[in-house]
Amino acid sequence: MSTFSFLLEGLRNIGTTGTITRSGTALCQAAIDRIDFTSARTIVELGAGDGVITRHILDRLHPDGKVIAFEVSEDLCNDMRAIGDPRLVVAQDSAENIRTYLNQIGADKADHIVSAIPFAALPAELGERIVTAAHENLRKGGCYNQVHYSLKTKAYYQRAFGKVEVRRVYRNLPPAWVLYCRK
Ligand SMILES: C[S@@+](CC[C@H](N)C(=O)[O-])C[C@H]1O[C@@H](n2cnc3c(N)ncnc32)[C@H](O)[C@@H]1O
Repeated sequence: MSTFSFLLEGLRNIGTTGTITRSGTALCQAAIDRIDFTSARTIVELGAGDGVITRHILDRLHPDGKVIAFEVSEDLCNDMRAIGDPRLVVAQDSAENIRTYLNQIGADKADHIVSAIPFAALPAELGERIVTAAHENLRKGGCYNQVHYSLKTKAYYQRAFGKVEVRRVYRNLPPAWVLYCRK
């Protein structure tokens, strides 16, 4: 998908996309920082959009690894399917259903979770349910990395994970944050 098409999707569904731009390269790199790609075999991505961060994950993922990428928009899921990588499982579903898709690939837990879900734009109850599901299904020692354009929902991650480290990513339009948590 082009930047222009993503903009159109954002304008059509701003209530769920939360933005009209997708993550730039520096933000994608910050989103997957702290992931140990030498040992990771199961990575879960929440709010994957057209797969802009997913592609960075796939570039570094072990040949036997899997990425489960959650996205609610059918059009954006079709863009991800077009990537055509057998390690990618496109979950056209809401992100609180992590357990179902881990079961499908026979994984006990996710090694790491990357999220760009726009929690500030979603009902608080849904947001809390997704973050709780992410925490429950992450292995001990795994990272939860959250991309955001505001820090409004930082308390969600503090409640689930305790300590949250925040990094500002200025080389993105608009400048963004990545919040890093560890289980
Ligand atoms: C800010 S965009 C991020 C897209 C892409 N990952 C990026 O970094 O540019 C957030 C995405 O989360 C998706 N989304 C919103 N609510 C969701 C939910 N409950 N479950 C899964 N995806 C959701 C939206 O459709 C949107 O594509």
